Amino acid sequence: MSHYIEPAEITRQKDFLNRIKEINNNFYVKNGRKPLANTETYGCQQNENDTERIRGMLYEAGYDFCEKAEDADLVIYNTCAVRENAEDRVYGRLGILKHLKESRPELIIGLCGCMVQQEHIVEKIKKIHKHVDLIFGTHALYRLPELLYNTLKERETVIDIENCDGKIFEDMPILRDSSDKAWVSIMYGCNNFCSYCIVPYVRGRERSRAPEKILEEIKELVSDGVTEICLLGQNVNSYGKDLEQDIDFSDLLCMVNDIPGVQRIRFMTSHPKDFGDKLIDTMAACDKVCPQLHLPFQAGNNRVLREMNRGYTKEEYLEKIRRVKEKIPGISLSTDIIVGFPTETNEDFLDTLDVLRKVEFDSVFSFIYSKREGTPAAKLDFVLSEEEIHTNFNKLLEVQNEISKRKNDAYVGKTFTVLVDGVSKNNDEMLSGRTDTSKIVNFKGDAALKGKYVRVKVTEAHTWSLNGELAEEGI
Ligand code: 5AD
Ligand code: SF4
Repeated sequence: MSHYIEPAEITRQKDFLNRIKEINNNFYVKNGRKPLANTETYGCQQNENDTERIRGMLYEAGYDFCEKAEDADLVIYNTCAVRENAEDRVYGRLGILKHLKESRPELIIGLCGCMVQQEHIVEKIKKIHKHVDLIFGTHALYRLPELLYNTLKERETVIDIENCDGKIFEDMPILRDSSDKAWVSIMYGCNNFCSYCIVPYVRGRERSRAPEKILEEIKELVSDGVTEICLLGQNVNSYGKDLEQDIDFSDLLCMVNDIPGVQRIRFMTSHPKDFGDKLIDTMAACDKVCPQLHLPFQAGNNRVLREMNRGYTKEEYLEKIRRVKEKIPGISLSTDIIVGFPTETNEDFLDTLDVLRKVEFDSVFSFIYSKREGTPAAKLDFVLSEEEIHTNFNKLLEVQNEISKRKNDAYVGKTFTVLVDGVSKNNDEMLSGRTDTSKIVNFKGDAALKGKYVRVKVTEAHTWSLNGELAEEGI
């Protein structure tokens, strides 16, 4: 298929991995250890999944990994461009790395991902952060072996941010973060061009992976012990539109549901404009598809939605939610909201609060609008002051926190099946896991339960998590 990278090119890249391996073998002989790589990921799950690919390639090329940049021979930051604060964090880290590079000039610093797919950013980095050795955009990910090899050989800055609509690559190594749950990308890119969003410019056009490739990957994951699959795409509802085969996202869900050994299926993200009855019915009919839906509505006011180029109205959104709740009782709902879109007034914002109150989401990811150079919304003038926007943002949190807590309260006293993620990050005496509705549950138990499905009785509810205890009945 045309949007696939040629197998010959993949073979060529694998050859570069072998050449790096030779360099790293020499490093081992000289230093008595493998070179260490440190990776950091900013932004969304797609980026997490891309970093798993980067780590897979690096591992294959003879690198081990370390937690801190201070210990590393190679640092790669996989960046995000969705909001300014994600970019600022990277600039902050680059400032720290500058000192590190001064004391250890042999350290290699690489930047990749959405932020550096933008030319004005790369110009800035070249000017201010001369200590960066390697810059590659989202479209050059599969070329990492060649680019890193050139960096190691030439010892001068290598940049590859060629822009294109985007291609898909298969059959490169991947090193996953979890042995129980896995992200599986089903499509890349976005065609929606919401007026505030940089993603379509840095991730290219929508392109779907062949279903056989997706199913093959999932079967392999299952044979490695993975039981929970999260299907990823910027807009999974567009899956298949660009394929010759007659297949859509609902069809794909059914196929994944049929794979023995898969126990839970999640997906993100759905765009409300393409979300419809077929998918709702499929979710209800497929026993492994979790009763959970992330459906970003962004803003409640119809004029603002139009100016955001979202393609639906508040009423249409609410109607879709009504149908979801009707067909899948107890479903847990989450959403993304932007507060302070340039033309949003205080009155418009009330429509956002109204949607919150009507839908009663389990959780909400809310963001203050961030101006993105090159997007249509960047040309709009602001109606509200920064202070007013912050006041609205805080109001939104206040309203939603009360709803989230109330929704969690309804779990108390009931018993749920939880997939154990492992020891809790905040308290090493507790285990942490998730219900099928994606609620975080903390409870006491043996660390050996990691990766297992257990029954947990919920005893206490907080705003963002639940506490519980292992129920007698195991499963
Ligand atoms: N400013 C603030 N939030 C944004 N998002 C996307 N672009 C912007 C922006 N310019 C949010 C949207 C999207 C989520 C991934 O990030 O809510 O759903
Ligand atoms: Fe951005 Fe809209 Fe595409 Fe989501 S659907 S990635 S918000 S342009």
